[in-house]
Amino acid sequence: MFDPRKHQARPDELAGRVIAITGASDGIGRAVARACALHGAQVVLLGRNAKKLEAVHAELARSPAPPASIAVLDLEKAVARDYDAVADALLERYGRLDGLLHNASLLGTLTPIEQYDVPTWCRVLHVNVTAAFALTQVLLPALRQSQDAAVLFTSSSVGRHGRAYWGAYSVSKFAVEGLTQVLSAELEGITQVRVNAINPGRTRTAMRRQAYPAEDIATLPEPQSLVAPYLALLGPASRGISGGSFDAQASDRSVAAAASAADAPAADAAAVSAASSSGLTSR
Ligand SMILES: NC(=O)c1ccc[n+]([C@@H]2O[C@H](COP(=O)([O-])OP(=O)(O)OC[C@H]3O[C@@H](n4cnc5c(N)ncnc54)[C@H](OP(=O)(O)O)[C@@H]3O)[C@@H](O)[C@H]2O)c1
Repeated sequence: MFDPRKHQARPDELAGRVIAITGASDGIGRAVARACALHGAQVVLLGRNAKKLEAVHAELARSPAPPASIAVLDLEKAVARDYDAVADALLERYGRLDGLLHNASLLGTLTPIEQYDVPTWCRVLHVNVTAAFALTQVLLPALRQSQDAAVLFTSSSVGRHGRAYWGAYSVSKFAVEGLTQVLSAELEGITQVRVNAINPGRTRTAMRRQAYPAEDIATLPEPQSLVAPYLALLGPASRGISGGSFDAQASDRSVAAAASAADAPAADAAAVSAASSSGLTSR
C-alpha cells in the first residue's frame, strides 16, 4: 500500500518539475518549498508577504536549487484578476504546472458555534477553501499541460473528525477533504492530474505557537522533518494515486489525538496585510 511517509526521495526526484506552493513564506510551506527546490524543482513561492517570500527566495538562490520565482497573492483579498495574473504569468514563464500545494491557512478562533463571529467565519472559509478552489480553477489549464501533475490540499485531523469549539477552521478542513474527493473524481481518467490531501499533524510553526503559546515547542517536530510525504505526493512517487487523504506523521491513536490538538484555533486570525497581487517575479 502506498504510504508517503515511507518515501525516500532521490536527490533529483523533482528535476524538471514546476511546483507552486501557497503559504511558502513560513512554516511547513517554507520547508516544503525548500525541499522541493533542493530535489530539483523550479518552485513558485506564493504568499501575501513579499518581504518574507524574498527571504525564502534568497535562501534558495544561495543553494544549488534551480531558480525560483515569487508570486504575491493575498488569499483573503485577491479578486479574479489577481488570480488570472498569477496563472497567466506562470503559463507564460513555464508553459505548465506539475505540482500545486495548497498550504496557506487561517486559524480563526476557538469558539462555540453559537458565539462564532460571522466575519471571522467568512474569512477562514474564504482563505482555507474558496481561495484554494479559485486558485486551482485558474491553474487547471497549466496543470493539464503537465504529463504528470499533482494537486495537494492541506487538511487536518479536525477535518476528519469534528471537535467542539474548533469552528470555522475545522469546517474548512472538512471542506478541503470534500474538495479533494470531488476534484479527483472529476479529473480521473480524463487528465493526468491527481488530487490528494495531507494532514501534517502537530508541527513547530507560527500557527501552532498562536494556538498554544505556553507549549514546550521542543516537543514538536520541525517542519523540515515532515517533508518526505510532501515530496512523495507532489512528485512521481504518487503517480496514479488520487482522491486520497494522507498523514505526514504516524497515525496511531495517541499521535492522532495530539495531531488534533495541533489545530486548535485559539487565537483570532490576525489582520492581514494589504492585498497585493501580481504576476511572477523572476529572478
Ligand atoms: N502546524 C500544525 O501543527 C498544523 C497541524 C495541522 C495542519 N496544519 C496545516 O498546515 C498548513 C501550514 O500551516 P503552518 O503550521 O505551517 O502555519 P504557519 O507557519 O502559520 O504558515 C501559514 C502560511 O499561510 C500563509 N497565509 C495565511 N494567510 C494568508 C493569506 N491571506 N494569503 C496568503 N497566504 C496566507 C502565511 O503567510 P504569512 O507568512 O504572510 O503569515 C504562512 O505562509 C496549514 O494549512 C495548516 O492548517 C498545521
